[in-house]
Amino acid sequence: MLSRKANSSEKGHASTYSGRYFREPIPKNAIPEKSMPANAAYQLIHDELNMDANPSLNLASFVTTWMEPEAIKLLNENMHKNFIDHDEYPQTEVLHKRCVNMLAHLFNVPEKNNAIGAATIGSSEAIMLALLAHKWNWRKTRRKNETDKPNIVFGAEVHVCWEKFARYFDVEMRIIPLEKDCFTITAEKVEQTIDENTICVGAILGTTYSGQSDPIEEINELLLKIKKEKGWDIPMHIDAASGGFVTPFTEPDFKWDFRLEQVKSINVSGHKYGLVYPGIGWMLWREETEFPEEIIFKVNYLGGWMPTFTLNFSCNSLGVIGQYYNFLRLGKEGYRNIMQNCLQNAQYLAGLLEKSGKFEMINRSQKLPIVAMRLKDEMKGYSVFDLSSKLRERGWVMSAYTMPPNAEEIALLRVVVKENFSHDMADILFQDILNACDALEKPTTEPKQSPPKDQGRHHPIC
Ligand SMILES: Cc1ncc(COP(=O)(O)O)c(C=O)c1O
Repeated sequence: MLSRKANSSEKGHASTYSGRYFREPIPKNAIPEKSMPANAAYQLIHDELNMDANPSLNLASFVTTWMEPEAIKLLNENMHKNFIDHDEYPQTEVLHKRCVNMLAHLFNVPEKNNAIGAATIGSSEAIMLALLAHKWNWRKTRRKNETDKPNIVFGAEVHVCWEKFARYFDVEMRIIPLEKDCFTITAEKVEQTIDENTICVGAILGTTYSGQSDPIEEINELLLKIKKEKGWDIPMHIDAASGGFVTPFTEPDFKWDFRLEQVKSINVSGHKYGLVYPGIGWMLWREETEFPEEIIFKVNYLGGWMPTFTLNFSCNSLGVIGQYYNFLRLGKEGYRNIMQNCLQNAQYLAGLLEKSGKFEMINRSQKLPIVAMRLKDEMKGYSVFDLSSKLRERGWVMSAYTMPPNAEEIALLRVVVKENFSHDMADILFQDILNACDALEKPTTEPKQSPPKDQGRHHPIC
């Protein structure tokens, strides 16, 4: 955020190292007039960043917090390469194409199809890009009258990037509300909401809130029926931000991907269960000839014409290189082992918490290794918000949030189990949760935490 005002305490760092390096305060909000030695700058920033949470204890985020030393070595060797400079760094682009092909296979694109795809900064960019392409396709092939307006249908459990798309790119959003006992959309409700100007139906494989999956196969059946009966060919985009690197390995027979006819595009975050550090997502499109050519810009590096269609331009190459490293290093076997292990650890923790009698698990049908729980009604006097803030004293970062409409009165605490969260850590966390509950159950005069004051819809961290 830009702020031109700084109060007196913000005007400068009164640094610990002032005796060694600094005679004068270092401004915080303006570039200093003078240089400083590299080691001084390093130390100053290094120490300030110690105020951040320990990423290994960050159970709120889906994003990768650990990679192997060999991967990091590779990333260090390549961090100065701008990914988009394909002319200068053609081999990085070759790895990019291989990753797209590997993902298209993983997501079961039919043999006859020529799938295309692209690396993005994350799933948000990938989703906006795919939805933009659906909007173009609707305008080109399905809009009947100049005055017709596009709409998009998805559930209230979507990530905020879906709403951003609708608002930024001027598409009416038709949000299907949740129920108090159902945290996904249903095919029936989709049927009541779509019409001939629906550019796309969004469905999620592993929601941010509960880790459950929308009934993707049923929605596909519905869209096929509508196509036959009414001639509306409404595509589906699958948001597999987290699930896209879990389900193909843990439940390969579960149909959610390009095996389903109306699934035309998919996004996945390489930096979540793709196991790469932040800054990489993927957009996959079922068939090149169905991608609107107006949003493809062709460049002729690498000796041939190469399509480029991302919203972003310059970015580092680390995401693509890290992703390719993981694909080669782990193979399907490695991903399967890691994802099964994460699921087992999540189930183990969920079992302990359930047995404690204090919590109710809300996602027994989970696709993702996350534990999403609510405090039982009889646990009075404190909330999941109190619990999350108490656990912070031990260093754990866990998100507490309320569900989206119409299930707002349900407040959840969520643990995202990642590769570095071991069985032993599950035991330590469980004990810390019990201790935190004990402390909160004691009478106190301290003010209790309440959910953030409503400023519209809020979304959990991811
Ligand atoms: C289901 C879902 N979609 C989209 C996103 C956005 O992903 P990214 O952070 O990669 O942009 C998230 C983030 O967690 C998510 O959980």
